[in-house]
Amino acid sequence: MADKTKTPAPPKPVTVATLLDMKRKGVKIAMLTAYDFPTARLAEEAGVDVLLVGDSVGMTKLGYESTLPVTVDEMLHHTKAVKRGSSRALLVADMPYLSYEVDPKDAVRSAGRLMKEGGAHAVKVEGGKEVAPTIKELIRINVPVFGHLGLTPQSVNRFGGYKVQGRRPEDAERIVTDARILEAAGCCAVVLECVPADLAKEVTKRLQIPTIGIGAGPHCDGQVLVSDDMLGLSESGPTKFVKRYADLRERALKAVGEYCREVREGSFPGPEHSFSSEK
Ligand code: KIV
Repeated sequence: MADKTKTPAPPKPVTVATLLDMKRKGVKIAMLTAYDFPTARLAEEAGVDVLLVGDSVGMTKLGYESTLPVTVDEMLHHTKAVKRGSSRALLVADMPYLSYEVDPKDAVRSAGRLMKEGGAHAVKVEGGKEVAPTIKELIRINVPVFGHLGLTPQSVNRFGGYKVQGRRPEDAERIVTDARILEAAGCCAVVLECVPADLAKEVTKRLQIPTIGIGAGPHCDGQVLVSDDMLGLSESGPTKFVKRYADLRERALKAVGEYCREVREGSFPGPEHSFSSEK
């Protein structure tokens, strides 16, 4: 019989070491983006292992057309909010465009702020071989780094759109090589975005560190989705790799429409929502 005098131990916080252990044991990692306090609370309560404050915040919350305009200050604002809503999950913050590519000193300063002021446990940078020296600099100052390969959204203009990457054998080979370079540089995980499932499988097999897929098939060590997409909050149409687990925009639209109608016809507020004076 359970001892009711004892409170259950709080769940252990997820660390970089936990993720490596999960890979070794074949336990899949559930990662989700969060940009604010309530979403972080909800995701943690639902059991998410890794919360990513993605620079997708630019599109989902700030109304930008791409991730390119997002600044370190904007990332910090949202990282702090997510931090306040989380206690167990590993908190990863994206390094936004131009905060790390020009000079490793910029990278050290930006990552340092996301960790020290924002409370992130790790940062994520996009790219392969070309960012390896920067990744080494970050690890030198004890910043755990997630890599990101395949469709890296900060390169959207070079790719000419949001297109699947690594379909041609030479591109696939480059992604495998880049993944090994990121691992050798010290990354603790690699996000693989929009690459063929067989390529993601090959990368996952070749690395000791976990791969986290988005549009990369079922063989990665974990999966990540943009929370607004999987909850059906975004206006954009369905993308092949996103599963919509809810249709919140549709429901919210209906609720707000109903509110507007009731205000206009005078049926809200009713007596049950109104106060009376003392007699
Ligand atoms: O910014 C983001 O949401 C991301 C995910 C798509 C992995 O980088």
